Amino acid sequence: MKIDILTIFPEMFEGPFKESMIKRAQEKKLVEIKIHNLRNWTEDKHKTVDDKPFGGGPGMIMKVEVIDKALKDLKLKNSRVILLTPQGKTFKQKTARELSKVKHIILICGHYEGFDERIREYFVDEEISIGNYVLTGGEIPAMVVVDSVVRLIPGVVGNEKSTKDESFSNGLLEYPQYTRPADYKGRKVPEVLLSGNHKEIEKWRKEQAKKKTKKRRSDLLMF
Ligand SMILES: C[S@@+](CC[C@H](N)C(=O)[O-])C[C@H]1O[C@@H](n2cnc3c(N)ncnc32)[C@H](O)[C@@H]1O
Repeated sequence: MKIDILTIFPEMFEGPFKESMIKRAQEKKLVEIKIHNLRNWTEDKHKTVDDKPFGGGPGMIMKVEVIDKALKDLKLKNSRVILLTPQGKTFKQKTARELSKVKHIILICGHYEGFDERIREYFVDEEISIGNYVLTGGEIPAMVVVDSVVRLIPGVVGNEKSTKDESFSNGLLEYPQYTRPADYKGRKVPEVLLSGNHKEIEKWRKEQAKKKTKKRRSDLLMF
């Protein structure tokens, strides 16, 4: 998989993509992530990527021609172009799973007041929001999307079973987990987990996952 990220703050990505699983996924060549400075596609002396909104109002708007030029250079035959915006479809585990099968993703990060509407109308395949709140830029949302997508590429997470049973994968939250000691100051681990009876453990985990979801996220059970 290849991921190209368009941003005016490329340095923001240095930390998160150079640590842990995302770092290893790149080293293992399971994914190639490239961060591009949108200012590379400007032609004026000041490398202008935005301008004042027509009709007046606060803030600056990302210019359509910068995005058009960048996409002309980066787009391949099967690229999926995604705009990060609070106006997009809310990002879910299901979306991450689907994107983990795409060969080439281009993520566009906005800043300031947002985008010229023609960008979303004519140049992108979909719009993604990471939640109903407004951030200063699309860089953190892009990191969220990349992290959740890359860990679903086969071979990235050591044991693939952990991405199959985890929260949201089957519409439920994950069952409770414990590790040693079995008795911590009188707070004991459920007996069944120490029994060695795998069938019973499986049954208990399924029940607990349903119970936990009903208690904490009953909205997940409505679909
Ligand atoms: C301050 S926001 C602009 C918000 C815009 N004026 C609006 O009301 O929809 C600047 C940029 O941050 C990114 N952004 C902010 N919140 C986001 C969210 N919840 N999900 C995805 N991207 C977001 C987008 O790229 C957006 O263009």
